[in-house]
Amino acid sequence: MIDMRKIQQDMPLLEHYIYLNTAAASAMPQPVVDEMTSYLQKQASIGPYLPSFRQETYAQVERIREKAALFIGATKEEIAFVPNGSVAINYVAGGLQWKQGDEVIVLDTEMLSNYVPWLALQQQGVQLKVLKTNDEYMVDLYALEQLITPQTKLIAFAHMSNAAGALQPAKEICQLAQQHHVLTLMNANQTLGLTPMNVAELGCDFLVACGRKWLRGPEGSGILYVREALIPTLTPIMIGWGSTQWDYQNNAYSFVETAKRFEPGCPIIPSIFGLGAAIDYANNIGIHHIYDRVKQLTNYLIEQLATIPGIVLYGPQNSAHRLSITPFNIEGLSPDELTNALAEHGVIIEAGTFMANTIMERNQISKMARFSPHYFNTFEEIDKAVSIMKKIQAKAQDS
Ligand SMILES: Cc1ncc(COP(=O)(O)O)c(C=O)c1O
Repeated sequence: MIDMRKIQQDMPLLEHYIYLNTAAASAMPQPVVDEMTSYLQKQASIGPYLPSFRQETYAQVERIREKAALFIGATKEEIAFVPNGSVAINYVAGGLQWKQGDEVIVLDTEMLSNYVPWLALQQQGVQLKVLKTNDEYMVDLYALEQLITPQTKLIAFAHMSNAAGALQPAKEICQLAQQHHVLTLMNANQTLGLTPMNVAELGCDFLVACGRKWLRGPEGSGILYVREALIPTLTPIMIGWGSTQWDYQNNAYSFVETAKRFEPGCPIIPSIFGLGAAIDYANNIGIHHIYDRVKQLTNYLIEQLATIPGIVLYGPQNSAHRLSITPFNIEGLSPDELTNALAEHGVIIEAGTFMANTIMERNQISKMARFSPHYFNTFEEIDKAVSIMKKIQAKAQDS
């Protein structure tokens, strides 16, 4: 059972706003803020480098690495802390050894960060192939298999698209890739902290995710998972202390053997501490409870939105394929107008292209509005948001 009272107490913004924009970023729960503030306050009062404090700080970073690994079914050697999902994708795109003629497959629902780093590999003779998802924005496994050739090296796919809300069959995609000896990068930016996740069961080779969305961690936090056997094959695109050994006598260097090789230089300690507290917070609620509640809220949201005249929902029409993210437009109201008017009533959603231009093109629109409720939202908040939207619509029709 989710203790909604406690969750709401931990989220002061709910006193003033209805926050339905977790796909962009969530607000951190109070214990996450407290964990970070407590570190920063200690650091301010005794300095970051009091030996015992620094040792304990680094020991805590390693405990959080273990926690993050457990959260996704990995080992701590397979986890690197990164500032965001985009950086993690770049570590994989830039770190693999490519040869002329290699192919990468991405989905036609990807946003910029999981498309352009692969496109940029064209300079090295790598061909980018885009899989057209079906009418439900889902990966058709048969179509995916048709696209795979002996030259295919990697499939990079978003577990859930930020602008369609289609939740992809990650395990089946990874299994198919394995059968063809193709690597997989799972972009879990929109699902870490929202769906149960176990990399060993999924069979993905790389997983990237930021902490600031569904996990409710701080900005500047994220993880890169690299399957252990692949770590030596992925050359870090950046070099620095902590990730690199310098053999000064021989004018040589090597990278550490774990995924820490993707952490050059000083760790972003406050963000890592916040990430650890965010994992604790999600674990205390239970990831299965989180998923179930968001699923119920999504179904309810879709039902209620359907009562608005002139609304068009984008993304999967079958609610079984959708989780939280619900993009839409209302005839006669621009998504920006609607979003601004809702904000005036204390309801926060977002409008834009979400840097997923193929989805805009597919629907022949330039922008869309998007709801993305999380477990802290309530059915009453959805009622309120929908009722305000109807009023905004009526006012626009009158003027
Ligand atoms: C599906 C998806 N992939 C990648 C990214 C980029 O992640 P980050 O902002 O953490 O770099 C985002 C961010 O919105 C996203 O939604």
